[in-house]
Amino acid sequence: MDEKIAVNIRHLTKIYKGSTEPAVDDLNLQIYKGEFYGLLGPNGAGKTTTISIISSLIKPTKGEVFIDGYDLMKDLPAIKRIIGVVPQEIALYEKLTAFENLYYFGRLYGINKSDLHRRIDFLLERLGLVKYKFTKLINCSGGIKRRINLIAGMIHLPKILILDEPVVGIDVQSRNLIKEFLKELNKDNTTIIYTSHIMEDAEKLCSRLSILDYGKLVEQGAPNELINKNSDCSSLEDVFLKLTGQSLRD
Ligand SMILES: Nc1ncnc2c1ncn2[C@@H]1O[C@H](COP(=O)(O)OP(=O)(O)OP(=O)(O)O)[C@@H](O)[C@H]1O
Ligand SMILES: [Mg+2]
Repeated sequence: MDEKIAVNIRHLTKIYKGSTEPAVDDLNLQIYKGEFYGLLGPNGAGKTTTISIISSLIKPTKGEVFIDGYDLMKDLPAIKRIIGVVPQEIALYEKLTAFENLYYFGRLYGINKSDLHRRIDFLLERLGLVKYKFTKLINCSGGIKRRINLIAGMIHLPKILILDEPVVGIDVQSRNLIKEFLKELNKDNTTIIYTSHIMEDAEKLCSRLSILDYGKLVEQGAPNELINKNSDCSSLEDVFLKLTGQSLRD
C-alpha cells in the first residue's frame, strides 16, 4: 500500500440496473494526499456516479476503492470518519434552521456539544453566515443553502473532502468565498476532490485533474501539463474541448 495515496480507484465499473452502457467503465485513478483534485467531464461522463461510489451511496458493479488504505467494501465505518461529502443536490432539512441542521449533522458524527457549538459558530462566521444562524432553510437563498450544505459535509473536519459541483447556481460572491475556503482547507492538509464544469476554476484550483467521458478516463495531469502537452491549446477549456469533442451529450 502506498501511504501517499488518499483515494485509490481500481478497475471501477458501474452499470445501472436497466442500462446496457456503463456509467463508469474500468476507471483507474490514484488521488494523492494533499491534492486539490478535479473530476471533469461533460454531462453524463460519470462524475457523480464515481463520487456516489466513493461515498458509498451506491455499489459498484465491479472494481475496488481504497480510501486512506481502507477497503470501501470492508471498512466503511473507518472511511466515514475520514471522508466528508458535499452532494450536488442540497441535502438539508428545509424546516430546520441553519444551526439546527448543522447541529444535527455534527451530533451524527459524534462531536461533543461544546466543541460543536464552537465549530458551528466558527464555520458560520468563516462562510459569512452568522446572521442566518437561526433562519429556517426554507427562507434562505440558493447561495446561502450551498454554503450551509458545504459546512454540513465537513462539520467533522474530514481528511478528504469530496464535493460534487459545489459552486453551481450561485453568484460570483458566494462562489469566490467557497473557492477561497476550499483553498484554505487544502492548505491545511485536507485533500479536496471536486467536480465542476467551470474550466477556468479548475485550471486555477487543481493540483491535478482528470477528464472523463462516457465513463472512461480520457486524460489526467496537472492543468499546465495538459495545456503544454497540447500545443494547439492555450487553456484548459481548449484541452477539454479537444479531448471530449464538440458533440452534445444527451
Ligand atoms: N440512477 C441512475 N440510473 C440509471 N442511469 C443513471 C443513473 N444515474 C446516472 N445514470 C446515467 O449514468 C451516466 C453517468 O451519469 P452521472 O450522473 O454520473 O454523470 P455526471 O458526469 O455526473 O454528469 P453531470 O455533469 O450532468 O452531473 C449517465 O448516462 C446517466 O444518465
Ligand atoms: Mg453529476
